[in-house]
Amino acid sequence: MLETRSLVAKYGTLTALADISLKLEPGVRLGVFGHNGAGKTTLLRCLVGAHAPASGEVEFDGRPVEAGHVATNVRRGIAFVPQGHNVFPNLSTEQNLRISGLLFDQSFMAEILKIFPVLAERRKQRAGSMSGGEQQMLALGMALMTQPKWLLLDEPSTGLAPVIVRNVMARLKSINESLGTGLVIVEQNVPATLKTVDRALILKSGRVVFSGTAEELSGSPNLWEWF
Ligand SMILES: Nc1ncnc2c1ncn2[C@@H]1O[C@H](COP(=O)(O)OP(=O)(O)OP(=O)(O)O)[C@@H](O)[C@H]1O
Ligand SMILES: [Mg+2]
Repeated sequence: MLETRSLVAKYGTLTALADISLKLEPGVRLGVFGHNGAGKTTLLRCLVGAHAPASGEVEFDGRPVEAGHVATNVRRGIAFVPQGHNVFPNLSTEQNLRISGLLFDQSFMAEILKIFPVLAERRKQRAGSMSGGEQQMLALGMALMTQPKWLLLDEPSTGLAPVIVRNVMARLKSINESLGTGLVIVEQNVPATLKTVDRALILKSGRVVFSGTAEELSGSPNLWEWF
């Protein structure tokens, strides 16, 4: 279980998150939405320990997620894919995967190449020369090399063509179903994400204004009024 209790996050005097309490059961797929500046990235950063809460708690499997100890938190099973293509451009696909899995089971690479056949085809290719969609798949593969229990993704569809977005979303869902990896997906692309997730959260100025099932939100006649 990944949990926050009365989480408050600040940047100086600015309150980015106010009183966020979340309980994420293992294997859940959560979509996090909200306008620019709503606090979505800050929430992910608090969940992986990259930003220290001003008050409140973040817990993973009953123990605190210690802020400032991202590497430890990743080893415990929380993987974070920040926005943008986070690959080493001058290394090959295979070298990128190897580096990310350095402290983990390298043989898991075979599984990842099965999930993303395009990466198997591009195994020896320099990552920087691959398309945006391929680099996004590689970034996901790199995060998966740590065999996480939770995968936190900050706007994974940015810059991708609609057909590639559908492909990325489908892969995420199948990873969740086959490996049981919990997903927290921050997205601007609400319709595509609602097809992939089972729960949804909408943030507005650092507060939760909607929390419920993806079905409830997609069925809501005035979906955009929440924003
Ligand atoms: N490093 C920082 N220093 C100061 N203020 C920050 C910093 N990072 C974020 N903020 C502020 O905190 C608030 C929440 O930012 P956050 O990045 O979490 O929003 P977001 O929902 O991810 O937005 P976007 O959709 O634009 O990515 C914003 O008002 C932002 O300006
Ligand atoms: Mg953001």
